[in-house]
Amino acid sequence: MGPGVLSTNSAAFHRQGDDLFCEDVDLAALVEQHGTPLYVYSRTAIQERYRELDWALSPVPHLIAYSVKANGNLGVLRALAEMGAGADIVSGGELHRALLAGIPAERIVFSGVGKTAPEMAAALDAGIHGFNVESEGELRLLSEIAHQRGVRAPVALRVNPDVQSPTPHAYTRTGHAATKFGIPMARALELYREAATLPGIHVRGVDVHIGSQILQPDPYLLALVQVLELVEQLAHEGIGLDYLDLGGGLGIAYTGEEGISASAFADAIIPHVESKGLQLVVEPGRYIVGAAGLLITRVLYIKEGGGKRFVITDAGMNDLLRPSHYEGYHRVELVGRRGRERVLADVVGPICETGDFLALDREIELPEPGDLLAIHTVGAYGFSMSSTYNQRPRPAEVLVEDDKAMLVRRRETIEDLVAGEVGL
Ligand code: LLP
Repeated sequence: MGPGVLSTNSAAFHRQGDDLFCEDVDLAALVEQHGTPLYVYSRTAIQERYRELDWALSPVPHLIAYSVKANGNLGVLRALAEMGAGADIVSGGELHRALLAGIPAERIVFSGVGKTAPEMAAALDAGIHGFNVESEGELRLLSEIAHQRGVRAPVALRVNPDVQSPTPHAYTRTGHAATKFGIPMARALELYREAATLPGIHVRGVDVHIGSQILQPDPYLLALVQVLELVEQLAHEGIGLDYLDLGGGLGIAYTGEEGISASAFADAIIPHVESKGLQLVVEPGRYIVGAAGLLITRVLYIKEGGGKRFVITDAGMNDLLRPSHYEGYHRVELVGRRGRERVLADVVGPICETGDFLALDREIELPEPGDLLAIHTVGAYGFSMSSTYNQRPRPAEVLVEDDKAMLVRRRETIEDLVAGEVGL
């Protein structure tokens, strides 16, 4: 596949007759074995997306640091480690996972506004690629901890370019001035000067992340231009950088809309960075895994009331938070036999909250109790945002490759839910 050629993820989910498949695995049969709700991921689709982006960025030295928060399952991380991926982490827990999955420390970048001293120490001991530092307090603490250990922490300052990125929900915008993220552009130079004098810091890069689910290259370009100006100013002052981290945020298609293509992103960015002698780091999460996952849920009841039809499923907002939290849209379809009457319905979960829904006022084929529904495009921020609210064990996760289905996380049990409680 050459640059500009987009795969359609056709390998991931498709129909054979009436039956929905993930690669060569019949999803109804998979549910017989593992029950519902069930997250299913296509390993091939994940690797295809990685390969596409890797190829598109190939004209420049680059590191794809997969954002573990999108989906940190070890099976998923191993599939990416095998491709040569790095990781973008935001906690000691994610560091542990990434290393456990075989992602080399020197391919790991550590983001986040609230790194703790033990997390910094663990990342220093592992020998990560770099810390994306978001405040002067963090910078000074990191210097102290590194200095105590007789090392220098490789650092990029995360700057806030005050770019308005048109993400679908306010909660996923991070690049404008009034968020907790990054260091205001106007203060960046001053903090770089300080960083250059600190005994435990090795200034190596600059970092920017402007939001999530961005569908156009333009906001990246606006941020990039500002960041490159800063790089130049720093060079004048004798502070040379060797990498530029553009963060994550590449958007995917949830409704009919097109996701951003790796080549559109690369075509916009590469001409500005290729002469700069900088390694380009990107931190995609959703782009890599979003379309590669679905959630299968069983219909429990159909209920009518208040002029509405409710399809009550055994998956709820604790299993998939995006509809409720971000008004996220996820396509819903019957796993099995189709051609039913199309109706307008709310697909809702069993949780005692009005906000517990998977889809509102959605035209779907009318299911019957016992039918299976597939909720699409939940590979990113699906399981990773799940909880046990209402004392519901979290779903199992299965990774599919060709005709092989591997259980990569067993279903939680009710015993698991009380296992950590002490002093009874
Ligand atoms: N790098 C940084 C510093 C981030 O904060 C994030 C996401 C990423 C990379 C990866 O972004 P991605 O490529 O996946 O868009 N839970 C929300 C998305 C929150 C994103 C948080 N930060 C959702 O379900 O839409």
